[in-house]
Amino acid sequence: MKIVKTISEIRDIVKDWRKAGYSIGLVPTMGYLHAGHGSLIEQSVKNNDKTVVSVFVNPTQFGPNEDLEKYPRDIDRDSQLVESLGGDIIFNPEASEMYNTKNYTYITVQGLSEKLCGITRPTHFAGVCQVVSKLFHIVMPDNAYFGLKDFQQYVIIKTMVEDLNFPVKINPVNIVREESGIAMSSRNVYLTDDEKKSALSLSDTLKKASQLINNGEKNSKELIKQMQEFISSHPYTKIDYIKIVDINTLEDIAEIPDNNYAVLLAVYVGKTRLIDNFVQHS
Ligand code: PAJ
Repeated sequence: MKIVKTISEIRDIVKDWRKAGYSIGLVPTMGYLHAGHGSLIEQSVKNNDKTVVSVFVNPTQFGPNEDLEKYPRDIDRDSQLVESLGGDIIFNPEASEMYNTKNYTYITVQGLSEKLCGITRPTHFAGVCQVVSKLFHIVMPDNAYFGLKDFQQYVIIKTMVEDLNFPVKINPVNIVREESGIAMSSRNVYLTDDEKKSALSLSDTLKKASQLINNGEKNSKELIKQMQEFISSHPYTKIDYIKIVDINTLEDIAEIPDNNYAVLLAVYVGKTRLIDNFVQHS
C-alpha cells in the first residue's frame, strides 16, 4: 500500500493499471477513517482489481464558520486501515496540489443542492461536486463508492454523473452504525460522553419512525412532529431539519408511500452537526 501525494504520480500509476487491463475502484474520503469508510473500501476491493482511497479534507466544501481547521486527521491510522482491507493506494494531496489553478469552476446540481443540508450549508455541495469531479478526472475509476449516510450527497453525485456523462458507476453503500445505533462519523470524536447519549436520539427516533410507518402512520407532518418532540427531549440537541422526501427529487412528501422515500435529519448535538437517515427503496 502506497501513499501518493501528487496528481502526476497517481496519473502515471493509473495509466499503467489501465494498460494492464485492471478495473479501478475509487473511495473518496476526508480521512479519519472508521468502519463506515471501511465498508466502502471492502466493496471496492471486492469488485475491482485496484482500489484507490482518497484522503483529502476538501476546503471548498466547508463554509466560513465550519470545522475545516479542526477536522480530525490521522493519516498513519488511515493507512493501516486501508492496507488491512486490501486497498492499493491512498491519494493524499495537499490543498495546494489539488487547487493550484484559478479554481473558478464549481458544479451546481440545481434543485438538489439547495435543499436539506444545502439550506444551512449553501456552498457545501458545489465544493463536494467540484472535488469529486476532480478526483474522477484524476483517478478515472470504473467504480466509485458513496455511503448512504450522506444520502443527499449520494443523490447529487449520482445526478451529476448522469447529467454530465461521467464514465463511472456510482455504487451506494449502507450506513454502518456503532453497536449503540449511532451512525459512524468522523465527527463523532467531537462529542462528549453526555452529548453522545443525546446523539443516540437520532438513530432511536429513526427506528421509532420506521416502526410507526410500518404500523400504518402515513402522515409525514404527524411523524415529524413526534420525531421533533423526541429529539428535543434530549439535552444539547438543536434540530436543523427533519424531512420525509422522495428519494429521487428530495421533494417533501405529505403522505408516506410504500416505497422510494427517505426520512432524513440533521441535528446539532452541542456544537457538532450530525446527520442520519433511513431509506425505503422499492
Ligand atoms: P467523508 O465524510 O469522509 O465520507 C466519505 C464517504 O464515507 C462518504 O461517501 C460517506 O457517505 C461515507 N460514510 C461516512 N460515514 C459512513 C457510515 N457510517 N456508513 C457508511 N458510509 C459512511 O463524504 C465525504 O467525506 C466528502 O464529502 C467527500 C465525498 C470525500 C468529498 O470531499
